[in-house]
Amino acid sequence: MSAAFEVKRTAAEFRAACDALRAEGGGFGFVPTMGALHRGHLALVAEARRRAAHVAVSIFVNPTQFGPHEDFTRYPRPLERDLELCREAGVRLVFTPSPAEMYPAGERTRVRVSGLTETLEGPFRPGHFEGVTTIVSKLFAASGPAVAVFGRKDYQQLKVVERMAADLLLPVEVVGFPTVRDPDGLALSSRNAYLSPEERTRALAVPRGLARALTLHRAGEESAGTLRRAVLDLVEPAATRIDYVTVAGADDLVPIADSERVGRRALLAVALFVGTTRLIDNIVFSEDNAPVTTP
Ligand code: PAJ
Repeated sequence: MSAAFEVKRTAAEFRAACDALRAEGGGFGFVPTMGALHRGHLALVAEARRRAAHVAVSIFVNPTQFGPHEDFTRYPRPLERDLELCREAGVRLVFTPSPAEMYPAGERTRVRVSGLTETLEGPFRPGHFEGVTTIVSKLFAASGPAVAVFGRKDYQQLKVVERMAADLLLPVEVVGFPTVRDPDGLALSSRNAYLSPEERTRALAVPRGLARALTLHRAGEESAGTLRRAVLDLVEPAATRIDYVTVAGADDLVPIADSERVGRRALLAVALFVGTTRLIDNIVFSEDNAPVTTP
């Protein structure tokens, strides 16, 4: 018989249920999400289950991390399907709070990480990371001590959350998990649902560009400019608009100029629009596998 499956709507009920799971022993894992779950999210759940006997998932489309012209209202919310996927994946507990529960009347508090949030996504999504760190700290406060698994698909988010957990002395071990992709290389994202078939084909320029840069780096190419250009050559014709293609330090996220050499561990991150859909993806040289084997 499978273990009980519970859904909680209030922070108090979620906290009590997390405490009860922790008391069962064997470790407690937590995977925060905004729902519209796909194999990427489920891979984080599987990783959490490898590290902990009991796993909780939160599903909350967090209004404070969306800009005024972003897709908050149209973000997909297939809750019944998400709950079924969680149950099938062996999740014990799902937290589906309302915005009023997470942002109580009169709330005045925000959590902000400096530096790491000011490059890459930072200038293009003002306030985004403040929304992320505020909600993740609330979710960590409600869940209590846990191993929390985050995707490297949102590499900057992972680094920012790691820093926040360390700085606030939170009793949470933050674990990063590799990007899960479709067989053709496209990184899974809830936002891929917005792409038309033609746009989805164009979007493949992103993993192909990253694969090309990875191949060049493996062959000894160290010029940041050459590696960046390899991605740009492929994505420029495919993108409706490019926000950035940037090489940066994998830990400090500081951009590396075209004239500089990349070290062994550098991040190559991409953000662009295909049609009206914004896609992000990245690789870390010497760490990640090629997004596609045939660039
Ligand atoms: P969401 O976009 O739903 O993603 C939830 C988690 O799944 C994040 O850690 C994200 O990095 C991870 N993820 C998404 N696509 C992935 C893929 N293809 N492979 C591996 N992991 C993937 O990220 C958020 O929600 C929110 O910002 C949140 C952290 C929940 C705060 O609101």
